Amino acid sequence: MKRLAVFASGNGSNFQSIADAIKDGVLNAEICLVVCDREDAYVLERARLENIRTFSFSAKKYASKVEFETEILGILRQLEVEFIILAGYMRLIGPTLLQAYSHRIVNIHPSLLPNFPGKDAIGQAFDARVEETGVTIHYVDDGMDTGPIIAQKTVPILAGDTKDILQIRIQETEHGMYPSVLQQLFQKK
Ligand code: GAR
Repeated sequence: MKRLAVFASGNGSNFQSIADAIKDGVLNAEICLVVCDREDAYVLERARLENIRTFSFSAKKYASKVEFETEILGILRQLEVEFIILAGYMRLIGPTLLQAYSHRIVNIHPSLLPNFPGKDAIGQAFDARVEETGVTIHYVDDGMDTGPIIAQKTVPILAGDTKDILQIRIQETEHGMYPSVLQQLFQKK
């Protein structure tokens, strides 16, 4: 059983899909910690309901990324966390965590990378009027949504779609995909 920390910044629906897959016995892991860079994010309420420990912080209260990542690393080590799972964590991971968790940080991104990296990938694809977009799960490196790709799934953009409808279809894909890709990955590692 792999020991995970989930990093998130917002709603936490991907955190929820991972927590649910663990409860359903389809993902052999334990979420030891949720790390959140917004003290009012709904993911913190979700974690509380699941009885999962949280660490929330405001980056502004630290002198540097090294300083808050060093504090996070201390908690990850104390909890013997093996993998960092990014689930809507809207912040670049710095060298402190990248070195400590080399090839053990995974991200999900709502586009077919390398297309539409960064913020609002769903809106970017919608506005570009491409016929299809999708979801990418990848290892994290020091770039913005650039690390080695683990898995991708295509999601069509249909006539009559609004951005909101597309977002629902992409998030449904994410929720099915993230737990099963993690399970396959953990079986290999
Ligand atoms: C997800 O769609 C995830 O792919 C995206 O943020 C959303 C978080 O939703 N991540 C990125 O854009 C990373 N560059 P959630 O909080 O409901 O899981």
